[in-house]
Amino acid sequence: MAENILLIGFMGVGKGRTARALAAASRCFALDTDDLIESLTKIKIRTLFAEQGEPAFRKIEQQVADWLEAHVRGTIVSTGGGFFMVNNLKRIGRVVYLHSSLKGILATLNRHPQADRKIKKRPLLQDRDKARALYQLRLPLYREVADYEVNVEGRRTSEVAEEIRSLLARDGVW
Ligand code: S3P
Repeated sequence: MAENILLIGFMGVGKGRTARALAAASRCFALDTDDLIESLTKIKIRTLFAEQGEPAFRKIEQQVADWLEAHVRGTIVSTGGGFFMVNNLKRIGRVVYLHSSLKGILATLNRHPQADRKIKKRPLLQDRDKARALYQLRLPLYREVADYEVNVEGRRTSEVAEEIRSLLARDGVW
């Protein structure tokens, strides 16, 4: 697979675990844009937001996007929930939007054994009303940039990964 596959979608929808499942089912590696930011800055996302603010974080996301476009091929990339706003998204690879209702996302997060940690590390998930507004705002935007949309709500990660794999295989990408 020469092209990269980019997984986009709202916080907590399961982009990271889906990327790892896809990588395990192939000869690809999985990368995560938030991990790249943390390794580049040596600062946790939560601290970065608190100390430098969201605009600084978005600038680093764009740096990561430029690096991915220039240097990375044949890789499954899970992205932060706002990464889809970088100006070169479609030049990095095929874009797959993972969809779930916000209710479904929050229920899955709350069921997680480390729910507190999962929620705390996401600055934009702290205020539920703001998170709801952000979800409504982004939903049409995710759909607009995506090459594919896959519903993940109530489904096992392995099933989701298999659907993505077969969509990409159908189009000769995989
Ligand atoms: C963000 C999502 C987070 C992280 C940052 C901002 C967003 O990633 O990049 O907190 O703007 O939606 P996850 O989608 O992995 O939670």
